[in-house]
Parts: sequence; structure tokens; C-alpha cells
Amino acid sequence: MLNLTGKNALVTGIANNRSIAWGIAQQLHQAGANLGVTFLPDEKGRYEKKVAELVEPLQPSLFLPCDVQNDEQIESTFATVQEKWGKLDILIHCLAFANKDDLTGDFSKTSRAGFNLALEVSAYSLVQLSRAASPLMTEGGSIITLTYLGGVRVIPNYNVMGIAKAALEMNVRYLAAELGPQNIRVNAISAGPIRTLASSAVGGILDMIHHVEEIAPLRRTVTQTEVGNTAAFLASDLSSGITGQILYVDSGYAIMGM
Ligand SMILES: NC(=O)c1ccc[n+]([C@@H]2O[C@H](COP(=O)([O-])OP(=O)(O)OC[C@H]3O[C@@H](n4cnc5c(N)ncnc54)[C@H](O)[C@@H]3O)[C@@H](O)[C@H]2O)c1
Repeated sequence: MLNLTGKNALVTGIANNRSIAWGIAQQLHQAGANLGVTFLPDEKGRYEKKVAELVEPLQPSLFLPCDVQNDEQIESTFATVQEKWGKLDILIHCLAFANKDDLTGDFSKTSRAGFNLALEVSAYSLVQLSRAASPLMTEGGSIITLTYLGGVRVIPNYNVMGIAKAALEMNVRYLAAELGPQNIRVNAISAGPIRTLASSAVGGILDMIHHVEEIAPLRRTVTQTEVGNTAAFLASDLSSGITGQILYVDSGYAIMGM
């Protein structure tokens, strides 16, 4: 049975009730995990308030600001995890960012700054968080990130985020190889398109969803809950032999040639 009782899970990337990370947090909570939630702080504290209200029913025992572009916040997040929990079992990396201008039109027009920003926040952050998390995973662990088909195939307008996802997927393999001897598993879920804050920045996201509804074997796209269920499986001992993998939760869309 899927049981995460006694496991400590740190979840990044909840912005609102459409966030994939919100779907994941709910499923981890339902399976019995003790949750810690991080949020992206903004000057007016709006995110903090909104996310705090949303996650309140899941009673997270940690609620911390963590901007992955801020080394001090990352350090302080994991210092708090160590102090309050002693050990970490599950890390959910569910965040990405690129300038909206770089998510539409010609890919060749991507600026150096836009390229670096997308790669830093969306791919390098997994390396940073894994480096900070792994010493706390003293009883083994599971690190899970979120990717998309645009990292292996050309999807209109996905552009620089596709390059970031390609890097992210390779990060998964290198991290899995390095951390495997400590019984820390690293996997990615490649989710089908879902309407969220981040995906609405990608030009033509609704067209992408409609295309999936027509072509995918299941004739629909997926929900945050379905992604959350797969994350709970990858977080649990039921997936103890799986590491370094990209698991597609996409209604089967990626198998189709035409
Ligand atoms: N929605 C989709 O169709 C889809 C499909 C496949 C993969 N994904 C991936 O799922 C993940 C979650 O995205 P989502 O669609 O749930 O959108 P979302 O907007 O709800 O989540 C993105 C999160 O990234 C966080 N973030 C951005 N910059 C950050 C920073 N510097 N530091 C810390 N956090 C930061 C935001 O606060 C937000 O919580 C992303 O990696 C995304 O690429 C999304």
C-alpha cells in the first residue's frame, strides 16, 4: 500500500490552487507525509499570504520563503529542515521561469540574459536544491522534478523552456548516478499540458491542450491530481527500484507519431 507515514517531504512551487505542486502536496498529505512548503517571496508578501491560506488544511509543519535565485534563502531553508526535522525523505522540485517574451515567436531571438535566466531558475535550481537536500537524506530519499515533452521535441513557442527542460532531464540522470549509492533516487515526471500560471505564459497553451485532447490515446489531458498520484508513487517505497527516469503522465500523447 502507498504509505508515506513518517516521511518528511519538502514541496517547492505552490503558487495557487492550479499549481501542479499543489496537486502533489495534497496527494503526499493524503498518503500520510509530514509536509514542508516553500513559497517564492515577493515584496508585498502577497504570495506568502495566498499560499499560506491555501496550504493551511494540509497543516505543513514548515512554511518557508525560498527563491532559488537567492543562495541565502536556500541555505536557510535547509538549515531549518535540519533543525526542525533532523532528516529529509522527499524533495519536490516543481518550479520554472522564463521571460514571457521568450515563450513566443522565433527561438533564435532569445537573448543571452533570457537564456541564462530560464536555465538558472528552471534547471540549475535542481542541482542547487539536490546538493542542499542530499546530506539530510540520511535514510535514503526521493527527489522528484517536473518536465515537459518540449525538452525532447520541438513544441511551438516553448522555445527556451525546451532547452531548460532538456538540461533538467540530463540533471536528473547525473544526479541519479551520483546519489544512487546513498539510496537517493532522482526522477522526473513529464506532465501533459495543464492550465497554470506558468503555462499561461507559453504562447498558444490552449491550442496545445486541445491538440492533446484530439490526439492522445486517452483523448484528454491530465490533471494536477494525476500528476500528484504519480509523485506520491515515486516518493514511496513502491518505486524503490526506479531512478534516473523520465515518467510520462500525459494521457499517452508522447507515443503518437501522427
Ligand atoms: N502546466 C503544465 O502544462 C506543465 C507541464 C509539464 C511540466 N510543467 C512544469 O511543472 C512545474 C510547475 O509549474 P506549474 O505549471 O504548476 O505552474 P505554477 O506557476 O503554478 O508553478 C511554477 C512555480 O515556480 C515558482 N518559481 C518561479 N520562479 C521561482 C524562483 N526563482 N524561486 C522559487 N520558485 C520559483 C513559482 O512561484 C510557482 O510556484 C514547472 O517546472 C513546469 O515547467 C508544467
